[in-house]
Amino acid sequence: MLHRIAIAAVTVATASAAQAQDVGDASAGEQLFNQCQTCHVVVDDEGNTIAGRNARTGPNLYGVIGRQAGTVEDFRYGDAMVEAGEQGLVWDAETFVQYVQDPTGFLREYLDDSRARGKMSFRVRSEEDAQNLYAYLASVGPDGGEGDGDGEEDSGS
Ligand code: HEC
Repeated sequence: MLHRIAIAAVTVATASAAQAQDVGDASAGEQLFNQCQTCHVVVDDEGNTIAGRNARTGPNLYGVIGRQAGTVEDFRYGDAMVEAGEQGLVWDAETFVQYVQDPTGFLREYLDDSRARGKMSFRVRSEEDAQNLYAYLASVGPDGGEGDGDGEEDSGS
């Protein structure tokens, strides 16, 4: 009987570790973000630079997680990105991870338009890297990445 309880406890612990892993590793993502800085900055609403220097090829990625695609005001997106945003594309763990691994392919699939083109000419090599980048960008957003996967901790240890 005691034995059973112990096994159940181990199962619960393993499940929550797997969940935490799902969203990636923010500090690994911070390292990886070096690759993005050629084109992107992360600058908060007060103008403080969190990452990058002054690249303007891509939009400011501050608060990108949870945001509608293609909506940074002073940035000129491609038509496909604007259209995807209008159709309801929002950056979350799933869409972000897919997009950064194949920007044009993702937009084509999302819009169901084989001629759609994305303006981002860079691909993240692996899903794991993409998840780590997601975790990093969520962590530097306006609410520190809360609201996604929150409220799952300590379910009665
Ligand atoms: C060579 C330049 C370049 C690099 C490097 C680059 N991007 Fe981009 N990125 C762009 C451009 C340009 C766009 C706008 C795409 C469009 O309009 O189709 C964009 C758009 C995005 C968007 C959508 C933003 C929005 O406001 O909707 C995300 C998310 C993104 N990039 C993440 C990344 C990440 C993460 C990296 C690093 C792994 C990265 N990018 C590297 C140029 C780049």
